Amino acid sequence: MDTDAALRQIEAAQGLEALQSLKVQYLGKNGLLTQQMKTLGSLSPEERKERGRQLNEAKGRLEAALEAREAALRERALQEQLEKEALDVSLPGYAFPSGGLHLISQIQQELLGIFRSMGHSVVEGPEVESEFFNFDGVNMPEWHPARDMQDTFWLQKPERFTIHGPFGEDVGDLGGALLRTHTSPMQVRYMIQHTPPFKIVVPGRVFRYEQTDASHEAMFFQLEGLVVGPDITMADLKGAITELARGLFGAEAKVRFQPTFFPFVEPGAQFAMWWAERGRWLELGGSGMVHPNVFKAVDDYREKMGLPRAYEGMTGWAFGFGIERLALLRYGIPDIRYFYQQNRLSFLRQFRN
Ligand code: FA5
Repeated sequence: MDTDAALRQIEAAQGLEALQSLKVQYLGKNGLLTQQMKTLGSLSPEERKERGRQLNEAKGRLEAALEAREAALRERALQEQLEKEALDVSLPGYAFPSGGLHLISQIQQELLGIFRSMGHSVVEGPEVESEFFNFDGVNMPEWHPARDMQDTFWLQKPERFTIHGPFGEDVGDLGGALLRTHTSPMQVRYMIQHTPPFKIVVPGRVFRYEQTDASHEAMFFQLEGLVVGPDITMADLKGAITELARGLFGAEAKVRFQPTFFPFVEPGAQFAMWWAERGRWLELGGSGMVHPNVFKAVDDYREKMGLPRAYEGMTGWAFGFGIERLALLRYGIPDIRYFYQQNRLSFLRQFRN
């Protein structure tokens, strides 16, 4: 075996695999050096000593060379990888598009903040609703002309989905399926599940089968408020709406109530806020004292579910208004369709937060 030639081969090995096969070739179980070691036994003692020393020295040099070469190859691979993955920090970067909240979401959050500060919990309900919660439960039975006030998207009798009641029960037998026309069905759902006193506020998307125009969309957001307890009065309602007005328009804000009809309240009132900047009243939505028939529908449902009646002797107030309408008036936006139509990003970007 030519040790110098072997050392040169090791020195020239271009990869870890090649190096490994050289190692096997010389030092492996049947390697050249190993075989020579095996022949030592057949030599005379003097020869064996000399030859043994030579072979051991050769073995030591080969091992050292293999080790050194392996370290060098590993180092080279690492350098190559580092070079390949190197970042040129002087290159121009990519501009990442950053999102922002839609104006209506921003206002919704502002409104929820005002109500949270008054102790209301925020709750949400389903957009696909049963006729029972959307209409019957809020004192709008089928024959009631008030149903015409809210044109409805009816859904074909759901074979492939189930509408669930407040406890997860199937309510398919309680009437048709629809896209909720207001957030008021959550009044009924929440009351069935909870016992008074409580204060809630319900934000949500609602749908109406409407011809759209500058102030009407077929999909819009409402905010619903509901407070129920043993001695809740219309004065509490006025206090809460006044706080809302102050939160939105400052300490000087004023509110106005005008009698009106909603089947689920008695008495009922439209409310408006004084908009000092523009010197005019801003009509916001409807409100009133919860109608006894709503409490009755809730208690009947509770009884059906095996729960005690909880609303006899209770009073409460509720309100509901459209968030887009508030935004239109507050920012002087001329058309509600700007909010959701396509190609209106430049409009929405003005309100980026
Ligand atoms: C209701 O929906 C009642 N549920 C509100 C209510 C709740 C009254 C609790 C009393 C107690 P109304 O249909 O008026 O009421 O709608 C309420 C508000 O939603 C309106 O004042 C308006 O701000 C907004 N709104 C109604 N229709 C549209 C529409 N097509 N596009 C945008 N906003 C609308």
